[in-house]
Amino acid sequence: MAELGYEVLGLDIDVDKVRRLAGGDLPIHENGLGALLRNGLESGRLGFTTSFEEAAAFGDVHFLCLGTPQSADGHAADTSQLDAAVDALAPHLVRPCLVVGKSTVPVGTADRLARRLQELAPAGTGADLAWNPEFLREGFAVEDTLRPDRIVLGVRTAQAERTLRELYRPLGGPPCVVTDFATAELVKTAANSFLATKISYINAMAELCEAVDADVVALAEALSHDDRIGKRFLHPGIGFGGGCLPKDIRAFRARAEELGVGHALAFLGEVDAINTRRRERAVELARDLAGGSLENCPVAVLGAAFKPDSDDIRDSPALAVAKALAGEGARVSVYDPAALDNARKSCPELGYAGSAVEAATGARVTLLLTEWADFTGLDPVALGTVSGERNIVDGRNVLDAAAWRTAGWNYRAPGRP
Ligand code: UDX
Repeated sequence: MAELGYEVLGLDIDVDKVRRLAGGDLPIHENGLGALLRNGLESGRLGFTTSFEEAAAFGDVHFLCLGTPQSADGHAADTSQLDAAVDALAPHLVRPCLVVGKSTVPVGTADRLARRLQELAPAGTGADLAWNPEFLREGFAVEDTLRPDRIVLGVRTAQAERTLRELYRPLGGPPCVVTDFATAELVKTAANSFLATKISYINAMAELCEAVDADVVALAEALSHDDRIGKRFLHPGIGFGGGCLPKDIRAFRARAEELGVGHALAFLGEVDAINTRRRERAVELARDLAGGSLENCPVAVLGAAFKPDSDDIRDSPALAVAKALAGEGARVSVYDPAALDNARKSCPELGYAGSAVEAATGARVTLLLTEWADFTGLDPVALGTVSGERNIVDGRNVLDAAAWRTAGWNYRAPGRP
C-alpha cells in the first residue's frame, strides 16, 4: 500500500516485531519484501506502532490481516486473533471509516464482526466493514499483491465498494468480483480447497502408479496437455503443507459440518488423508534404501521449509518426514537455505548442517524434501564423493533420475518405478 502511494501505519501487538520493522529489518523471508519495507520507511509513507488508539486516529481504511490457525483442540479455525483485534480497535473508531477483513475465515465471521464493530465503535454505523480476501502465495507475495489475478469485494454498502475500488485503482484493472460477505469468505476457502484437491488427486494417481510400476511424472505431463486440466498444482511428491492449505481444508470441513452440510465437503477428508500418506511414503522409500531399518542410520534431509523461497515451517512436509525418520531411530541431519533457525527452534531434537554437502556427508540415505533451486541443481557426481552411500529419495520429483542413476545413485521417488 505504501508502494502504491498511500500513507500506511502497520500495527502489531508484538513489540519486538514492530521495533524490527521500524528499523527496516524484515522478520520473515519473502522475496522483494525487504526492499519495499525500506522504500516505504525512506519515503516516510510507512510507519509502525503498537497503539490501537494511534492506528484508529490515523486510518480511513483499516486492514485486518490476522492469522486464523487451526484450533488447538480440533479442526476448526481459531479466529481469536481477529476477534481481539476488532475488540481493541473498534472502541477508538470515532469517525467514519472502513474496516477491511483480509484473513481466511469460517463463513459467517464477517457478519459477526460487522455487528461487533457497530456495537463497540463510537462512530456506530459509520464504522463499515468489508471482506476482501487475499490470494497471495508465499515466495510470490509481493508480485501477487501488486499484480493480483482478481479482487474480491464482499460489501454491504455502495460507499464501501467505492472506497475499495478507488483504493485498488493504482493496480490497473484486475477482474473485480463484488459480492456479499458470505460469498467473499467462501471464495478463499473454496480456492485453497480446490488447489489442495488437485495436488492430492495427482498424489492419489502416484499411489496407483506405485502399485503397477507406472510413472506418475509422465502421467501428470500427459494430463497437463489437456487445457481443461492444466499443469499447475499437478506436481506429485510428498504433498502440500504450510500455514494455509492444510488448515484451510480442515476448517472448511468443520464449518460445513456446523452448517449441516458436512457431506458436501466430506471428500476433503480424503484429500487430507492422501496428503498424509505421501509423507509416510517418503519414509518408506528411505527405509527401503537403508535396507529395511533406519535404526542408527545417518540420513540427510534437504529442505525444512514447506516450500522453496520461504522460511515458513508451518505444517512442513519436509520437517514432518524428518521427524518421522528420527522417530524410527535415524540420525537425521537437516539443511535448508532459509528455514534453519525456525526448524531448530521447532525441532531441537533433529540434527542440523550448514550446507547440503555437509548434511549429505557420510549419509546412507539422502532425501530431497523441499525443491529449493540450490538442491535441484546439485551435482550427483560431486555429492556421491562425500555421501556414505548413494541412496537418494527425490520427494518432490524434481531431479533428473537418469543423471543420478548414471552417477551411481539408487534413485527413488514417490509414484515412479
Ligand atoms: C496457498 C495458495 O496457493 C494461495 O493462493 C493462498 O493465498 C495461500 O495458500 P502457499 O501456502 O504460499 O499459498 O503455498 P502453495 O504455493 O499453494 O503451495 C502449497 C503446498 O503445496 C506446498 O507445500 C507445495 O510444495 C505443495 N505443492 C504445490 C505440491 O505438492 N504440488 C504442486 O503441484 C503445487
